[in-house]
Amino acid sequence: MNKKNNLQIIILAAGKSVRFKSKISKLIHELLGKPMIVRIIELAEALEPSRILVVVGDNKEDLGTCICDKKVTLVCQKRPLGTGHALAQCEQHVDFQQPLLVMNADTPLMKQESLRRFIETGEYNDNTMHLLTAEMSNPSNYGRIIRNSRNKVTAIKEDIECTATEKKVREINIGFYLFAPRLIFALLKEIAPDNAKGEYYLTDAITLAIDRGKRVIAVKDVMEEEAWGINTRVDLARAEKILRLRKTEELMMNGVTIRDPESCYIHEQVSIGQDSILYPGVIIEGDCQIGEQSILYSNVRIRDTKIGNGVVIYDHTVIEGAEIGDQVKIGPFARVRPESRILDGAKIGNFVELKKTVFGKYSKANHLSYLGDAVIGEKANIGAGTITCNYDGYHKYQTLIEDEVFVGSDTQFVAPVKIGKGAYIAAGSTITKDVPEYALGVARGRQENKLEWAKRKKRGKSK
Ligand code: UD1
Ligand code: CA
Repeated sequence: MNKKNNLQIIILAAGKSVRFKSKISKLIHELLGKPMIVRIIELAEALEPSRILVVVGDNKEDLGTCICDKKVTLVCQKRPLGTGHALAQCEQHVDFQQPLLVMNADTPLMKQESLRRFIETGEYNDNTMHLLTAEMSNPSNYGRIIRNSRNKVTAIKEDIECTATEKKVREINIGFYLFAPRLIFALLKEIAPDNAKGEYYLTDAITLAIDRGKRVIAVKDVMEEEAWGINTRVDLARAEKILRLRKTEELMMNGVTIRDPESCYIHEQVSIGQDSILYPGVIIEGDCQIGEQSILYSNVRIRDTKIGNGVVIYDHTVIEGAEIGDQVKIGPFARVRPESRILDGAKIGNFVELKKTVFGKYSKANHLSYLGDAVIGEKANIGAGTITCNYDGYHKYQTLIEDEVFVGSDTQFVAPVKIGKGAYIAAGSTITKDVPEYALGVARGRQENKLEWAKRKKRGKSK
């Protein structure tokens, strides 16, 4: 089969997800940050078909919302009566002149290149059908490919219908088929739900084709894991592990050191530059770009963030929706929240939280602070325990701290407030008014020492 656009695709995505035990369709559950249904549609899109039909059932609303930005036609299967019944619902939406690729939606590890090989090697005509198979080390729960002594496929038998000998067959049906619409829709009309599950099995149509002398070509040409169907949460975790390792391997091949790939969780769209190092337990989600020679220590979680070169993020730090320049140091135990920008050479230390804050070049906030809705200039020093009081219960206000300001420990800035360049803030101050450039702002009670007070207290005369 060749010719671009000479293909239409049907994704079977209805069904009950019984074994998954979830209130929502299993296909909405994510694998490495992406719902299973989105993965399979993206796989279909990569083949540039003329149309994609997705068979949905009770899950129509949830699935529809999840894939609302996709150019697909939803076809409703009112009752989940089996894969054969699901496909039959598409008859009126199909172009009978074009080959039809049918895919189970619950097979998220299938690779694009494997599928491309499958549709390109086939010989397409009205008397032939193709199905993709794989050799499984543990074939239980899958439909088995039954072959005769001349190695010809004679039937597909669902697990539940297999004899003890048939159960030993390790070649399984993956649930990816290439059909001529004329042939398959005719055969679907003849299948009956006379089996243990009481369902219309699509696989029965294939057995029927063989009985009618049609050519059924089983192509065994993919890695075992690509064929995995996701029926339970155990399957989901196993599949996600494969995707994680594919990603960490790609990064390592591109020059990133990952100390313990098994423990890292990195979404596919993440990029990391050469000679960066990830310690165990690093999580990087969403759209993240990380530069070269940066180090992420253990149990750091980063989402939708851009990080420059030579950055060090110490253990147990969480960063979301932020932008970090070059040579920055953050953590341990820091929290950088959305819309924060930390510029080159800055230092954010332990138990410091930033929200919607620009933190200038070479500035430092080394310990225990909350900086929210703030703009902090260059080379400022923010002392331990500094807090921007940015919220009055109704609105948020800004704190502006200009270049080279020195903020003493345990300071509160009651926003809106502005501290001019080079000013000093005395430790323990509650700053409610602007402080001019190079001034000292002090806002605290004066210290008084009452001599011998403690001795008087002991005698009961402490006044
Ligand atoms: C199916 C195949 C089996 C194959 C296995 C591969 C049949 C009868 N069996 O079994 O040979 O080895 O996949 O993973 O086809 N669906 C519908 N409507 C329904 C039922 C299912 O759209 O009424 C959809 C599901 O959403 C799923 C796909 O079809 O994406 C496969 O259904 P599932 O119930 O998972 O079939 P298996 O028992 O795994
Ligand atoms: Ca399945």
